[in-house]
Amino acid sequence: MQTKSKEIIATADGSPSIYVPELKETYHSRHGAQTESTYVFIEKGLQYWLEKNPNTDPVRILEVGFGTGLNAFLTYAYAQENQKPIFYETLEKFPLDINLLQAMDFDAFFGSEVSQQYFWPLHQSAWQATSKLDSFFEFSKREDDFLNYSSSQTFDLIFYDAFGAHAQPDLWTEEAMSKAASLLRPDGVWVSYCAKGSVRRALEASGLVAERLPGPPGKREMLRATKP
Ligand SMILES: C[S@@+](CC[C@H](N)C(=O)[O-])C[C@H]1O[C@@H](n2cnc3c(N)ncnc32)[C@H](O)[C@@H]1O
Repeated sequence: MQTKSKEIIATADGSPSIYVPELKETYHSRHGAQTESTYVFIEKGLQYWLEKNPNTDPVRILEVGFGTGLNAFLTYAYAQENQKPIFYETLEKFPLDINLLQAMDFDAFFGSEVSQQYFWPLHQSAWQATSKLDSFFEFSKREDDFLNYSSSQTFDLIFYDAFGAHAQPDLWTEEAMSKAASLLRPDGVWVSYCAKGSVRRALEASGLVAERLPGPPGKREMLRATKP
């Protein structure tokens, strides 16, 4: 996948994303990359968790698919703005080339001050290392395949942001969902843009309680699942 050609696209809210013609997949919704990430992962994931568990310190998040770093960026900014300590571990099997990230020109979209503060430090952080980016955000960046990943720790939240099932079916099987479930603490929450019935059934077969939520712009529904 690393060698697959990639095209930079502008999404409907002005934020950039990437299209991979060979997979017929975009990294984010064409209806708005930032809008989708904010809605699915920040509002329906992190904020939902904090409404139920306001005193979690730190909130422990595992992301599957670091990609451009947009979800990590939004989480880092949230941690700082809300003074909420967050530990964020992200997995990426095929890290993006820094030249491609620069060409996406996130600075123009976020403003260079914001991107210097929250976006580029994520990309400058070393792989296979944990970096304390500030007093509220500890960042662990792993070049790893989720299907081979293991951790001695469990997580409050999983941001499941792999490519869709038609492009990467092995990441949406019952086996993959059982692995995600085993990485959650009791009451832990898995969240994704995906709304497929087969994925909901795989989550439930893995012992999670899945719910369908209204989706971000352009998508009728999304999935969230909780470990009892
Ligand atoms: C939909 S994009 C993620 C977008 C990303 N969260 C962002 O904000 O840019 C899916 C990402 O998952 C990565 N990926 C694919 N297979 C993976 C695997 N087995 N383990 C970890 N990451 C994987 C892809 O390389 C890609 O970066």
